[in-house]
Amino acid sequence: FAARQVSRSAFGLAQRRAVSASASNATKVAVLGSTGGIGQPLSLLLKLNPRVSELALYDIVGAPGVAADISHINTKSNVKGYSPDGDGLKGCLSGAEIVLVPAGVPRKPGMTRDDLFNTNASIVRDLAKAAAEHCPDAAMLIISNPVNSTVAITREVFKNKGVYNPKKLFGVTTLDVVRASRFISQHKNTDPANENIVVVGGHSGQTIVPLLSQSGYSLEGKDLDDYVYRVQFGGDEVVKAKDGKGSATLSMAMAGARFAESLLKAAQGQKGVVEPTYVDSPLFKDQGCDFFASNVTLGPNGVEEIHPVGKVTDHEQGLLDKCLVDLKGNIEKGTNWVKENP
Ligand code: NAI
Repeated sequence: FAARQVSRSAFGLAQRRAVSASASNATKVAVLGSTGGIGQPLSLLLKLNPRVSELALYDIVGAPGVAADISHINTKSNVKGYSPDGDGLKGCLSGAEIVLVPAGVPRKPGMTRDDLFNTNASIVRDLAKAAAEHCPDAAMLIISNPVNSTVAITREVFKNKGVYNPKKLFGVTTLDVVRASRFISQHKNTDPANENIVVVGGHSGQTIVPLLSQSGYSLEGKDLDDYVYRVQFGGDEVVKAKDGKGSATLSMAMAGARFAESLLKAAQGQKGVVEPTYVDSPLFKDQGCDFFASNVTLGPNGVEEIHPVGKVTDHEQGLLDKCLVDLKGNIEKGTNWVKENP
């Protein structure tokens, strides 16, 4: 009985916090692709976030059902589902301050993220067009792969509509940091909650560059190679284990919700919020990489400060050199595709 009382009062506190957060900071968050493997748990986690006052769920199938289900959860935010008929996208996006985009197809075993380009490029382009029209000031959080290219696609669409704001466009690379932190904690038997490994670059294969040395770790030889490989290709472990039924969805939902929470905290005035993310970045523009993931301080207007890569070992520099070659190609691919398919 005592335990029940404690948990009830803890929940009451959470509810009171929810009320005060949403009363003073009304924030509409939209999820495009909300019926999918990522979309559903991501929407669920956003419903549990007291900083969200309105949750707008859009998908080409099933969003009203997901919304009806989630809307019964006893937190304060209002949830509404939207379909493509009528003004669905417009209704979903109008007034949104944050738009998360996990719409598109996931990988099957043997596929790279770039293999998804042909299908996902047009999905992201069309959703970006709608966002540029209905919520041009919203923060765009791109989850659909290949992120290295779909972010460039979104930029081109926003530019074409004359509303591009580089401070509000984010490729969600949080899962790479989540994995890098979890994997080192397994290796070193530490508490993963205390690990926060810096990961820079992009979000596929060798464009993902973990910088273990910045956390004071110095793995050597095979241990180091195995670790780097696992961070770069951790997504493949999930794709293989799911055996044709998709890629990471639950861990990705957690990572996406964490990033959205950080943006909300920063938007609502919290200082010193730092997250790794793939943004329009000056760091390697001279080498043809308009976008690059590194730690970024978030503020009320989105990107506040892009942190430099910092000190790296020779081995990490080697990884970075390889990353930049692939990344440049991925960015150009997205940019050029929109020029040919506006
Ligand atoms: P899924 O197939 O389970 O869900 C995708 C959803 O998008 C479906 O509900 C589908 O109906 C919807 N959709 C398709 N076209 C749409 C459109 N034009 N408008 C709105 N919704 C549309 O796929 P899953 O597993 O949720 O993955 C989604 C994307 O996220 C994939 O591209 C995947 O590669 C990517 N991903 C990204 C990660 C990251 O770290 N950034 C990690 C894992 C996956």
